Amino acid sequence: MWSTLSPLLRRLPGRRFVRLLRQALQGGDARTSALLRLSRPKNLFQPFGTTAEDRYPGIFEMVRAVVGDGPERRVLSFGCATGEEVFSLRRHFARAEIEGVDISAARIIEARSRLERQGGDSGIRFAVASSAETMPTNSFDAIFAMAVFRHGELGDRPERCDHRLRFADFERTVTDLARCLKPGGLLSIRHANFRFRDTAVASEFDTLASRPANPDTPVYGADDRLLPHHPDEPVVFRKRPS
Ligand SMILES: C[S@@+](CC[C@H](N)C(=O)[O-])C[C@H]1O[C@@H](n2cnc3c(N)ncnc32)[C@H](O)[C@@H]1O
Repeated sequence: MWSTLSPLLRRLPGRRFVRLLRQALQGGDARTSALLRLSRPKNLFQPFGTTAEDRYPGIFEMVRAVVGDGPERRVLSFGCATGEEVFSLRRHFARAEIEGVDISAARIIEARSRLERQGGDSGIRFAVASSAETMPTNSFDAIFAMAVFRHGELGDRPERCDHRLRFADFERTVTDLARCLKPGGLLSIRHANFRFRDTAVASEFDTLASRPANPDTPVYGADDRLLPHHPDEPVVFRKRPS
């Protein structure tokens, strides 16, 4: 691990490096977040694993009402952290196949062990992935990317975000997620530092729902520059049936 980290560590300002190193020596999710911030795997967005049970009940319920439930339905939780989102989705989609993916192998190991502790569920699958690149086209009825396309260290609203996140990576990643949605399927994006509407693929979608924007989540344009605060965040988008 040291050979992977050391070239990256040399580029980090001293104090940040020492702080991250201290956190990496702790246990739990602080360690996982610090290691992600130090190693910066390709396509990393939010390194922090903050999550909770049934964090978005209104959005989950609305999506289920539109796409329905059943063994032929497929739901993706992109950036599922330690699995709470997937287990919560199971309560809304009792019969669907649900897949949770995360860039962090440590978080996926934790999600899998909870699944095992709960006695298993043949309709739930967890995998390590940082994009939808290898996922089949038109394969999901609903995709959730909640609190993923953001970075916790942008809270002080810097003028530019590209030292932490780049719009180009966001656009490439959501374009791939859009490809994996069935026509008529729903894409939910919440707490993002970018707007889905600024991507080219958004022209294939209609907005179905918005939520109040979180003032602690600055929003950046396609040029990675800070945008003025807007009170609403569009969050549920429907891919137009072809
Ligand atoms: C704040 S947590 C959100 C968890 C859950 N979606 C929720 O809203 O409660 C963000 C998660 O996104 C994951 N993540 C960041 N970049 C990712 C990427 N490119 N692909 C998949 N997961 C990613 C992180 O590892 C982290 O677990």
